[in-house]
Amino acid sequence: MNVNANTETKEFHLFNQNVSYIFRVLEKSHYLENLYYGSRVKHRESFHHLIEREVRPSSNLFEGDHTSSLEHIRQEYPSYGTTDFRYPAYMVTDQVNAHITDFQFEDYKLIKGKPTLEKLPATYVEDPNEADTLEITLYDAVTQTKLILSYTIYANRNVITRNTKFVNEGTTAVYINNAMSASVDFPDDQYEMIHLYGAWARETHMETRTLSKGIQSISSARGASSHVHNPFLALKRFDTTEHSGEVFGFSLVYSGNFLGQVEVDSYNVTRVTMGINPFQFKWKLNPNEYFQTPECVMVYSNKGLNEMSQTFHQLYHSRLVRGYWRDKVRPILINNWEATYFDFDEEKILNIVKSSKELGIELFVLDDGWFGKRDDDSSSLGDWFEYEEKLPNGIDGLSEKVEALGMKFGLWFEPEMVSKGTKLFEEHPDWIISTPNRRASHGRNQFVLDFSRKEVVDHIFILMDNIIKKSKISYIKWDMNRYITEAYSKVLESDQQGEVFHRYILGVYELYERLIHKYPHILFESCAGGGARFDPGMLYYAPQTWTSDDTDAVERLKIQYGTSMVYPLSSIGSHVSAVPNHQVGRITPLYTRANVAFFGTFGYELDVTKLTDGEKDQVKQQVAFFKENRELISNGTFYRLSNPFTSNETSWMVVSTDKKEAIVGYYKVLAKPNDSYSRIKVKGLDPERLYTINNSTITHYGDELMNIGIILAENYTDRASEYWSREHPHDYYSKIFVIKECTGS
Ligand code: DGJ
Repeated sequence: MNVNANTETKEFHLFNQNVSYIFRVLEKSHYLENLYYGSRVKHRESFHHLIEREVRPSSNLFEGDHTSSLEHIRQEYPSYGTTDFRYPAYMVTDQVNAHITDFQFEDYKLIKGKPTLEKLPATYVEDPNEADTLEITLYDAVTQTKLILSYTIYANRNVITRNTKFVNEGTTAVYINNAMSASVDFPDDQYEMIHLYGAWARETHMETRTLSKGIQSISSARGASSHVHNPFLALKRFDTTEHSGEVFGFSLVYSGNFLGQVEVDSYNVTRVTMGINPFQFKWKLNPNEYFQTPECVMVYSNKGLNEMSQTFHQLYHSRLVRGYWRDKVRPILINNWEATYFDFDEEKILNIVKSSKELGIELFVLDDGWFGKRDDDSSSLGDWFEYEEKLPNGIDGLSEKVEALGMKFGLWFEPEMVSKGTKLFEEHPDWIISTPNRRASHGRNQFVLDFSRKEVVDHIFILMDNIIKKSKISYIKWDMNRYITEAYSKVLESDQQGEVFHRYILGVYELYERLIHKYPHILFESCAGGGARFDPGMLYYAPQTWTSDDTDAVERLKIQYGTSMVYPLSSIGSHVSAVPNHQVGRITPLYTRANVAFFGTFGYELDVTKLTDGEKDQVKQQVAFFKENRELISNGTFYRLSNPFTSNETSWMVVSTDKKEAIVGYYKVLAKPNDSYSRIKVKGLDPERLYTINNSTITHYGDELMNIGIILAENYTDRASEYWSREHPHDYYSKIFVIKECTGS
């Protein structure tokens, strides 16, 4: 068991080899007080000596003595209004709109393994010995509501997951105005907060800021986790680097509106809360019903950001992603979006397929524009039947031809949307999300279907199923190209309109679940105008995500670097596209575009029929390289080495679990004439082993490569000829180093 319960002192200690998390029940109020979260400490029969109390003048007192203000106690799941004035982890209001509750400890339960979360994505175990779960039950006698706080600690990962459940055992409804998934009060504020922010085509940029007094937060109120903030934040010490120091990472397994908040009070206590965004949220909990929050994954590392990220990667790669594709290397795909946009017909597509096959590419994906009468983004969403003028043989006919040519076939859908003028809209105009008597805003000319309604989800399932069941479909790209406005559901009561956003995302999860249940071999890739739903919730259903609509190699350095803070390479959709790049107009060499895209799921998004013979040869080599190395790239341990946000040079690497092989990517964005020498100090190799780089006859011990580094100017003559002979020789230089174990001396 990785949980010790000191029954006398009512203390709970979750631990594994590296982490300890300790809390206790307060003697009089029976609330929960946090005592410690961090590196592993030995278990003690009592942790009473860790309790910190100070007489603080002018505090409101709770338990009658001068040290009992909840404002000065580090709590597990704090409430507002009974002597604590900080932002709470939850708020429940009763029939008279009073928000004071008194959730007192009632009982605890230890469970071997990890229970699933009904209707919500979550990490899991395959064997009960992988983790232990502690469930704490608290009870509020006035509302007759139970609060169950659930903690799971993995035995061999630095991971604690948390979620919360409210159960109404009374006879009248209560309202949940706020229900965070996790809350942690840290004893000091000596941290920097890292988070990932962005916009369309500029996702997951990293920002680091020193905590300041008051509230700092990241959030979404857009109906999707969004381009703007990823549902992730980390607190790191000032001296923590990629390779050393303490960091606490928080990641929410959820795809809807979220809040990640850090509040520093006047006593330097830092409260981190994460969960569904309370803004625009209000859930009516009827008698005998329960409300389940999403899961928050907390990762602790005292070995730097890379170790935190690797812990997330391994957990999400193997215990969040599910099903047939989880442990399989992914096919190299070609997507026609940037090749044709809406302007294609069967002949054009089949020409791309034939050329792609010759290059070794394995899967063709037909993107937007195959349905209804869709020639631009102004029509047809919801009419999920073929555009006959473009595809006279239908999706079934086309997919058979693609398979006959030796490629697999994939298809794009945007299931949650509808365009005006479609059959779907004419039959069900009331199915869109809109507020009565108010304008319904559109985004990209489209409207959002009310996925909080079961009949809507059922209908879209049937439309999609009609196409899938008659065709040979191996892959589906599920897109979502606008946020939700005028949120209101016509079938919910007026006091339940605060449920729309959450019910909507539950509807999305439900449709995913039904499709993957019926078609377990289809590989799903989630997408939302690029990376607006690159979140752990989606990964539970779709093992990979389209990271960004920006396919420029230089921009992708930042986007993929930021994404790698949390998400494994096996989930990061990355393609080589044409130049000048369609988003920024930049011309980067083909080899650099591939050298960046290799560190992800890898594919192409350009018209291969227009490539020169020389370019086709390069693509063949790239495809062969990726096939040879994709097992390592997908399953290895990823390290960030140098940072594109602070440097002209970026490098990162992936090492095989047996440390026999590694691949390093090095990128220099702008050329500098007569520059200083550069070295790449690699990580994760075996110091005692002998390696060779790019099949050179020179050998290096692992300790040399890790401490002295790969010397970039070592092979000057080769480098010089390579440098001066390139078509675009000066900027956007990149190089891949394949490090392999060898024998010799
Ligand atoms: C946005 C996606 O991110 C693109 O890859 C493409 O599928 C378009 N939508 C199609 O409309």
